[in-house]
Amino acid sequence: MTNQRANTPDAPRPRATVARMYDYLLGGKQNFEADRRAARDVLSKVPDAANIALSNRLFLRRAVHTLAQAGMRQFLDLGSGIPTQGNVHEIAQAVNPEIRVLYVDIDPVAVVASNQILHGNLRCRAIEGDFTRPDAILGVLADSDLASIIDLDEPVVVLYCSVLQLIPDEQIDAVIAPIRDVLVPGSAMVISHVGVDVPDRWGESTVQQAADVYRTQAATDIRFRTDEQITALFSDFEMIEPGLVPLDRWRPELSEPDPYVAASIPSPMRGAVAFRR
Ligand SMILES: C[S@@+](CC[C@H](N)C(=O)[O-])C[C@H]1O[C@@H](n2cnc3c(N)ncnc32)[C@H](O)[C@@H]1O
Repeated sequence: MTNQRANTPDAPRPRATVARMYDYLLGGKQNFEADRRAARDVLSKVPDAANIALSNRLFLRRAVHTLAQAGMRQFLDLGSGIPTQGNVHEIAQAVNPEIRVLYVDIDPVAVVASNQILHGNLRCRAIEGDFTRPDAILGVLADSDLASIIDLDEPVVVLYCSVLQLIPDEQIDAVIAPIRDVLVPGSAMVISHVGVDVPDRWGESTVQQAADVYRTQAATDIRFRTDEQITALFSDFEMIEPGLVPLDRWRPELSEPDPYVAASIPSPMRGAVAFRR
């Protein structure tokens, strides 16, 4: 992607965004120079950053495949990101073409790119939205148009993949509970999250420097959470096997190999899939 405005002398320098930095880390093309610079700065501190992103995407694909196979018919992907290979609708509709998917992201680049690849796919849409305003998301879902994609009277899969580490502890319950708590029995949640052992693995000061890149260049703070804290996000939902584990250990046979399997060290991100019974 080229940024025409950045070539004019008085154009404001665009900030990096998490969505476009992540796209760059995954080898995508939907990013600007500011995103590439910020992502390269992160890679200079934590060279594993690209493997972490890939490991997360592979987990997401395996989780979606598992849930589609289990008969889930509608997926709400909050903080869905810029489309990449093996998006939620592609994995899910390969199992059942009738599955419906709503992508929600705060980054307009992610929304435009998603709607481009969804063109003609009447069961899927992408909308711009802020998942830290769950009441607004629920309000939009009640809209008659979107209600044909996500019907909250039926079981829904809600995905929070690699997004909740952007939310401070004092806000996390208010962000997640309003949507989680309206999901009917039979619904499922997928969460992947950066683990608390990341600073130990790469060194506190190195990880702090990488986190500073996100703070200064993308106006985002990253939080590390313990397994107990991540488990609490699921509330009464019951995890399916193998529970909350490093992402490379979650049903690895269902996708191409996770980079951490080859590295023989666990993924620094944790993930789980859970159902409301
Ligand atoms: C690291 S990416 C993860 C993308 C995707 N969920 C995945 O696992 O591959 C984080 C995404 O969350 C989006 N995001 C961050 N804050 C958000 C918010 N408040 N509301 C909606 N999306 C948000 C970013 O724009 C970005 O696309």
